Amino acid sequence: MSIVFLNNEFMPMEEAKISPMDRGFLFGDGIYEVIPSYDGKLVGFGPHIDRMNQGLEMIGIQFNWSHEQWQSICQQLIEKNGNGNLGLYLHVSRGADEKRFHAYPDNVEPTVYAFAFDIPAANIPDKSKVKGYRVATTQDLRWQRCNIKSTALLGNVMHFQHGHGQGYNETILFNAENNLTEGSACNAYIVKDGVVITPPLDHQLLPGITRHMLLDILRKHSDIKIEERNVSMEEVMSADEVWLTSSSKEIAPVIEIDGKPVGNGEIGDTWLAAQTLYTQHKHDY
Ligand SMILES: Cc1ncc(COP(=O)(O)O)c(C=O)c1O
Repeated sequence: MSIVFLNNEFMPMEEAKISPMDRGFLFGDGIYEVIPSYDGKLVGFGPHIDRMNQGLEMIGIQFNWSHEQWQSICQQLIEKNGNGNLGLYLHVSRGADEKRFHAYPDNVEPTVYAFAFDIPAANIPDKSKVKGYRVATTQDLRWQRCNIKSTALLGNVMHFQHGHGQGYNETILFNAENNLTEGSACNAYIVKDGVVITPPLDHQLLPGITRHMLLDILRKHSDIKIEERNVSMEEVMSADEVWLTSSSKEIAPVIEIDGKPVGNGEIGDTWLAAQTLYTQHKHDY
């Protein structure tokens, strides 16, 4: 049985109830985070909470718990749900209003919900032990605020389903200029001649915490060159390697795009070097 946190109380998930007038339910009006935890150790906790607080500020939800408050909730969820490989889902919606009206209401109490769920074990930096992703492509048809980690995820859900429905593991997205933005639930990278290239942070993609940590680790602990710049569809289709990153995937190597092999169809050496360093340094954050 899973124990969840709702509005200052821990309880079995079956007992957690929210108002049908909650704006998270009616409008997707909220912000969320997912923080990975392996054997009770959270990865990237500080940057995740900072991103959530920035998101709440961007959408005008006045709610700013300290890192210590969130840390205590995460630790209790880990203790109550077992110490395995967990994702900690944290969610703050604007709260329940008396009527359904688009304008932000005054004086409603935000709804705070958090739960733990199983995630895959952390990647082992070994080509024979990691899953190679097969992905589909499609045009990115989401909104112009993809940098906000909003709970309104229907655009992402529909893009994920596009690939999933055809048996793919993910869908990577291209804007109207045919430049790569990200995946439906992850950031995306190519490797060409040993250089790691990823789209720059702007309104078209989420500033992933795994992305932040990975680029920082590579800059600090390796000679691998990094470019943050536009990446065309042609470059993706002729890349030596393609990777995806997210909190639950770490660095996922892509071996096939729309049925065509990436590079020679094998997991690459630059992935191995990057995942090795990420495994060594991810707990520095
Ligand atoms: C659309 C999107 N981009 C990128 C990411 C990766 O973010 P992070 O590394 O913080 O998990 C996610 C994670 O859920 C996502 O949903």
